[in-house]
Amino acid sequence: MTSPGPRDGFAPALDRVRGGGGGVADLVRLLAADGREQADLHAAAYAVKTREVGRTAYFRGLIEMSNACRRNCLYCGIRRDNTDVERFTLTADEIVDAARRSFAFGYGSLVLQGGERRDARHADFIANILQRIHSETGGGMGITLSLGEQSRETYRVWRRAGAHRYLLRIETTDRVLYARLHPGDPDWEARRLCLDHLRTEGYQVGTGVMIGLPGQTLESLAGDLRFYLEQDVDMIGMGPYIPHDRTPLAGEAHHDPKRQVRLGLNMIACTRLLLPDANIAATTALQALDPKGRERGLLAGANVIMPNVTETRYRPAYQLYNGKPGLEETAEACRRALDESIGSIGEVVGYRERGDAPRALKRKAP
Ligand code: 5AD
Repeated sequence: MTSPGPRDGFAPALDRVRGGGGGVADLVRLLAADGREQADLHAAAYAVKTREVGRTAYFRGLIEMSNACRRNCLYCGIRRDNTDVERFTLTADEIVDAARRSFAFGYGSLVLQGGERRDARHADFIANILQRIHSETGGGMGITLSLGEQSRETYRVWRRAGAHRYLLRIETTDRVLYARLHPGDPDWEARRLCLDHLRTEGYQVGTGVMIGLPGQTLESLAGDLRFYLEQDVDMIGMGPYIPHDRTPLAGEAHHDPKRQVRLGLNMIACTRLLLPDANIAATTALQALDPKGRERGLLAGANVIMPNVTETRYRPAYQLYNGKPGLEETAEACRRALDESIGSIGEVVGYRERGDAPRALKRKAP
């Protein structure tokens, strides 16, 4: 007989959550875990990760292609009303170069991220770039887009041009908080509908939230976890909220980095327990608050890291929050450092593989 693994201690709570309706109190307890309880939670999530997706960390080369944005999110450093940022958009050649660089590093996938624009020129621009990257890399690279809310038609055009994953964070599932953080912008339901459209258009779909927003409760985060389950997403990218001093939200709440990291890691662990075969990112915001944040994220159940491959001269203008790390670190230095630190926690990097989530692959199977 095998002795009960650490996961077994959490099984009844997880069953209640999966059973529908209930489980919020259980999740709140897990999210608040600290000390010994937290170590158990992370160990349980790591055991599930090892079993379901292995101990391989997949890299996505992150290209921050533009900070031009039509939205005015109260938390974000590149919001429309922030006149202190110099706006930039990489040229098509610069973007394709960055994609080539990622490919040469052996990164099996890339993420094209930028502020939200909805004009037809932008849609064409992206479609062209996708075709170029697709043909230059022989279709061998996973291409993820993170370009905000778009029409269903635009999602379709981009999918046909070669993108196959899309990240659209729901940001929070607390409707009241969402409305407060996005005044004058489309509402929560419009954003959620985009996730449906992405699924219908054949993308692998990712979402996520910010963790530790002013006014966000543990109950609300528990609701976010339930939302991941309900939406049945393939990928999760989430990280702690970090104030940016040129935003209306800065200074609204006391910022406790240690608590933010603890909550961020606990959210990762809970997500792994609930969606065992999903891809879960250890995001830059974790690293911003703790130099070992991304490695700790991997040990709490994450399996994806998004190293920045944007040319360093553009990075200061893409500060979503204060203290964003890696402003001066070149893509090559970043790759080397990550490779080493991932080795030091006993994991390997999945070079030259797209690293699709088993959850997404199973969905495709008959
Ligand atoms: N702190 C942490 N994350 C932020 N984002 C935007 N602003 C902040 C901030 N101040 C996140 C949002 C967005 C993603 C690209 O960056 O969740 O979806």
